[in-house]
Formats: sequence, structure tokens, C-alpha cells
Amino acid sequence: MKNKIFKTFINFTKNLKTTGAIYKTNKAVEIGLCSKIDESTKIVVEFGTGYGNITQEILRRLPDDGKLYTFEVNEEFVASVKETIQDPRLVVINDGAQNFGKYVEEKVDCFISTIPFTLIPKEITLDIVNKSYAALNAERFFCKAQYSKLHLKKFKAIFDECTTTTVLDNLPPAHLYFCKKTTIPNKMKGVKKNRFRIAKAL
Ligand SMILES: C[S@@+](CC[C@H](N)C(=O)[O-])C[C@H]1O[C@@H](n2cnc3c(N)ncnc32)[C@H](O)[C@@H]1O
Repeated sequence: MKNKIFKTFINFTKNLKTTGAIYKTNKAVEIGLCSKIDESTKIVVEFGTGYGNITQEILRRLPDDGKLYTFEVNEEFVASVKETIQDPRLVVINDGAQNFGKYVEEKVDCFISTIPFTLIPKEITLDIVNKSYAALNAERFFCKAQYSKLHLKKFKAIFDECTTTTVLDNLPPAHLYFCKKTTIPNKMKGVKKNRFRIAKAL
């Protein structure tokens, strides 16, 4: 057990530029972030598998006929997850979130992200967020954990509704974003005309 904690800490710290964290997220983040997944959720896409702690929580909630695509850039994390989680509903992909469209053909019922958007170039972040919005079914959510609220404006410009909550006992405290695509996009706010241009200008 102590060995596992130490190994996780070392590997997260060693890869700080891509992990953006020194340790995996805690139970409260796992549960909070997955709170929009229920029996009606069929296709889930996860960005940033790590050692698969959130992956396991998603699978716990996903119905038997559901499918989870999880994307991770770190080969070592991918190998570990492939070894420890064997589930026919799970597809583990060693590629960046920005390329999810190459692998996921279905419309998506929920995105779960823990990738560090603050360390990812702005154009790639916008590309991921715009493509995720396009791939999402209406009345569904893009849920993400982030250590700052820096990107909230970008998400609000693209999604129709966004709420946040903070998990204080995670190290460091984590902000959970729940960004929804509504059936009737929120034209009244004037954000719909060109989502990409508005987000880029922020
Ligand atoms: C903060 S860690 C979270 C890991 C795990 N989900 C958790 O909650 O503990 C972020 C993870 O995202 C991965 N990552 C970073 N950039 C990525 C990208 N563009 N696409 C997919 N995964 C990425 C990192 O390698 C790392 O495993």
C-alpha cells in the first residue's frame, strides 16, 4: 500500500508538465465528478486516465451496455490501467484528448476530464472544448476537475450552462465544473453565433 502511494507520487511528480498534479484526485473528487452519470448514460469519454481511479468510479455507475473511452498520453499509466482494470465496456487509448474524434464515432453522453488545461496550449484547449461540445448529446454534461478557475470564461462561452463547486479536502483544493449542452442552445445570451471566435477573444 505504502509502495503504491509512493509510486503514484513519484510518477505524478516526475511528469508534472503533463499531470499538473503531485498525486491522484481524492474520493470526493471521483464521486463529485461522476455525479452526472446514471443508467441513461451510454457513452462516456474520459480525458486523463492517470492510474484509473476516476475510470473505476465511471465504470461503477455505467450500465452494462455502456461504453467508456479513456484517453491518456502517458504510456506507463496506460500500461498500468490495462493491467489493473479489465472490463469489456472499457477502451483505453494512448493518445491525447485533442484526438478523441479519431476513435469515438458515437455521440457522447458525458465527458469527464482531469487533464490540466492550464498547461495545454490555448488553441488545443479550445479545439478540445469545441469538439466536445459538438460531440455531446443535448441535455448532457462535460464535467471537469481543475485546480484553478482560469478557464471558466472559455467554458461558459461555449457551453449553454456552467456551474462549479469546490472540493476543499483534495490536495490542492479542486474546482469541479459541470458544463451542459442544452436542447435549445442559449441564444438569449448572445454566445451562440460563433462559439469559437468568442472563446478565442477571451
Ligand atoms: C491530474 S492527472 C489526473 C489523473 C486521474 N484521472 C486522477 O484523477 O487522479 C491528469 C492526467 O491527464 C493526463 N494528460 C495530460 N494531458 C493530456 C491530454 N492532452 N490527453 C490525455 N491525457 C492527458 C496526464 O498524463 C495525467 O495522467
